[in-house]
Amino acid sequence: MNMEWKTELCFVDAREPEVTCIERAASWLKRGELVAFPTETVYGLGADGGNAKACAKIYEAKGRPSDNPLILHVADVDALRPLVQSIPPQVEILMSELWPGPMTLIFRRSDHVPDIVTAGGDTVAIRLPEHPVARAMIRAAGCPVAAPSANRSGRPSPTNAQDVWADMAGRIPMILDGGSSQIGIESTVIDVTVEPAMILRPGYYTREYLETWLSGICLDHSIVQDGVAPRSPGQKYRHYAPKAELTVYVGSPEAVNRAIQRALRQAKAAGKRTGAMLFDEDPDPTDCDLVLRLGSRSELSQMGHFLFSSLRAFDRAEVDVIFGVGVEALEGYGISIMNRLKKSAGGRVVVL
Ligand code: TXA
Ligand code: MG
Repeated sequence: MNMEWKTELCFVDAREPEVTCIERAASWLKRGELVAFPTETVYGLGADGGNAKACAKIYEAKGRPSDNPLILHVADVDALRPLVQSIPPQVEILMSELWPGPMTLIFRRSDHVPDIVTAGGDTVAIRLPEHPVARAMIRAAGCPVAAPSANRSGRPSPTNAQDVWADMAGRIPMILDGGSSQIGIESTVIDVTVEPAMILRPGYYTREYLETWLSGICLDHSIVQDGVAPRSPGQKYRHYAPKAELTVYVGSPEAVNRAIQRALRQAKAAGKRTGAMLFDEDPDPTDCDLVLRLGSRSELSQMGHFLFSSLRAFDRAEVDVIFGVGVEALEGYGISIMNRLKKSAGGRVVVL
């Protein structure tokens, strides 16, 4: 791989994507190179999804294990049809109502999809993002865009262009800066090749919400139960990890705050630089070098929005340990947040 790229960071106004930047990004993609771009969930690292050599560069730039398949991003449903074998009628309705948006669907693949995209499997993941910059870029490229999150493998997903820069500068020719990603955690991945449909990765759209279109939709057991092998390859890897050791506490707000305060005091006494990741309602802790608040306990979408960028902020502050609040009720968006938190913490979740 060419590690000598002089990476161009190009600001694009999401309300009025400027044609020259988009055209330049599209031309890199057409030439088989990589471009990082904003989506409403997290930033993606894009390549021409029909070009196996270009897709191989994604694995190299990220340091991604080769058995972890990629999502193909399209700008409209017609671009999806040649990539898949069949679409059940209820899935057609789901697509027309929830796309564009933070939802990835797994279909049986057609022969048009290169093996490297599916990691050799017989299914393909497809997403139609809502972000206007992503859509404009995919349209201009004129091909499905293969894109995982634009982080180095194992790191928190980037939710703004600066966080992409930290991981990808020098590795790729161009980053499109469309501001901070509104949602902040990745799309809900749903396998629609099985009956009932199954959520392989929880995201912004919850099981409860999706039930309207996919009656009986269930969660892969590994999402809610420890020790069960996940069905989606990407879910088995260590993920989203800050450099500091993160421990997450779950329980009543009072018990969690007491435990975090105790842990901070002990870590400080041991000479460590400390961080705390709290809700707005939590009291100010002592013995803490950096306190970050991720919104209100009663509005979890704020926590989703701030989670990954906060983990990276702790890294920049060079803390050694982070003690964070978790979500007690395992339902709705709480499942998605805890899925990311648990992986970020390498499983260190203390239930009080
Ligand atoms: O929101 C998102 O989905 C972001 C933005 C950039 O679109 N993309 C993203 O990609 O999160 P990535 O590669 O970081 O995660 C894709 C997940 C992985 O866990 C992967 O294993 C799974 O989707 N996946 C991809 N293709 C699959 C397939 N054919 N079967 C099962 N899981 C698949
Ligand atoms: Mg990822």
